[in-house]
Amino acid sequence: MPTNPICVAIDTPDLDKAVALARALKPHVGWAKIGMEFFYAHGIAGYARVAEAGLPVFLDLKLHDIPNTVASAMKSLMRIEPRPAIVNLHATGGFDMMKAAAEAVAGQSKLIAVTILTSLSDDDIWAAGFETAKNTEAHARSLAELSRRAGLDGVVCSPHDVVGIRHDLGRDFLTVVPGIRPAEAALQDQKRAATPEAALAAGADILVIGRAITGAADPAKAARNILAGLHAG
Ligand code: C5P
Repeated sequence: MPTNPICVAIDTPDLDKAVALARALKPHVGWAKIGMEFFYAHGIAGYARVAEAGLPVFLDLKLHDIPNTVASAMKSLMRIEPRPAIVNLHATGGFDMMKAAAEAVAGQSKLIAVTILTSLSDDDIWAAGFETAKNTEAHARSLAELSRRAGLDGVVCSPHDVVGIRHDLGRDFLTVVPGIRPAEAALQDQKRAATPEAALAAGADILVIGRAITGAADPAKAARNILAGLHAG
């Protein structure tokens, strides 16, 4: 595990920009995250170009399908070179799907589950049919518990949910936390956000930070400032 907890979300459809960001940020962050926006535009060849910069890559494709399809897709992802450091799926795909995926990954990468997206509020999940007796945090905790039972290495969760998940599942279960906003930044589409310092203090292992770094005039400087704040805190 890199000691620098910052994972920069390289969300752009522009290949040159993605490669330039990975190179410029290599000394200042611990990880790079490639998600759907970039991967659907440039696929494995584009992924390999970004990975060449030398950061371990979290390939954030959030798989969600029947167990056989997700397990087969995970096997395909395990053949990518260099192999992603972290891959993921949606915990709402259920226990059997997660277990099949964990068997397919077989420890070759860290496999983590998205619990409840940080862009969703209580009202959003209730409108989507989640049990109304439980809020986002309670649902995230149940999904994290299910993920662990299915053999996963950790979860993606909101900074608001990380304390409860840590309490339930202990120190060894990886918590990857997006929805990070420096104090002065706008929330944009994130609803359950926190500052980097607060997320780390709550127990996050990895802080996923996108636009607060990549949207800055000087992304390397933005990453350095965030890291300095973490060390000061
Ligand atoms: O720009 P921003 O810091 O909001 O980017 C957050 C990144 O984390 C995006 O790449 C998004 O896909 C991802 N993410 C998230 N919430 C989750 C899971 C992943 O925002 N629950």
